[in-house]
Amino acid sequence: MPNRLTGTVAAVTGGDQGIGRAIAERLAQEGADVAICYRKNKKGADEVVDSITATKRRAAAFQADVGSVADGQRFIEQAVEALGKVDILVNNAGLEKRADFWEVTEEDFDAVLNVNLKGMFFVTQAVVRHLRQARRSGKIINISSVHEELPFPHFASYCASKGGIKMLTRNLAIELAPDRITINSIAPGAIETPINTKLLNDPVKLKELLGNIPLGRLGKPEDVAGLASFLASDESDYVTGSTFFVDGGLLWNYQEQ
Ligand code: BGC
Repeated sequence: MPNRLTGTVAAVTGGDQGIGRAIAERLAQEGADVAICYRKNKKGADEVVDSITATKRRAAAFQADVGSVADGQRFIEQAVEALGKVDILVNNAGLEKRADFWEVTEEDFDAVLNVNLKGMFFVTQAVVRHLRQARRSGKIINISSVHEELPFPHFASYCASKGGIKMLTRNLAIELAPDRITINSIAPGAIETPINTKLLNDPVKLKELLGNIPLGRLGKPEDVAGLASFLASDESDYVTGSTFFVDGGLLWNYQEQ
């Protein structure tokens, strides 16, 4: 494993499970100290802290619902207090709710947009304020989705949130460049994580989905983590405002039968 993150501190939202967990562990393996936040899954968060501290890196977990601006800001304050600074932010926390468009409730719309988009917006703002104050460069990595491009019927609010992330990535790339803060998105396809437990337990739907993935398998959180560590490192210093797809070819797969 390369050691390209030695001396850095990363904050990962939703680092207690799935893609966030794999990224937190991977960044630590490459030398970063890592703060994660979790909404409910304290057990998972504790496991991540244990697995990171076992590799001699520092780690800390904090409860926060990034759908609340105050919680998100508090997470960054706590991360700085515990680990001295934050250089890298991974906006990973996210959720989706399935419903026909005409059935979507205000409550579900808010739940999705608050975490996926507003959370990303204001946690990034907290990290940018911290970096500007310290006059340090930084790396922001957003976990978006193929659905920042690709329609996902019955998940309209999720798609709206990911489309918003796509545009914020571009907008902030320009606005933050003078401060040497880069921002990029990773857009995973179908990755085996708790967000799609329902699908994983539905053999018919799963088979249909696999048929759409040219590489013929679901992704694993580790498939995403390697790219995140590249984007967190100075090897990616000239990369900003881009989205990288990690989807086994799903997004652009169209075949005429
Ligand atoms: C969603 C999954 C979905 C995958 C591929 C992801 O963004 O969270 O539910 O299976 O995209 O469509």
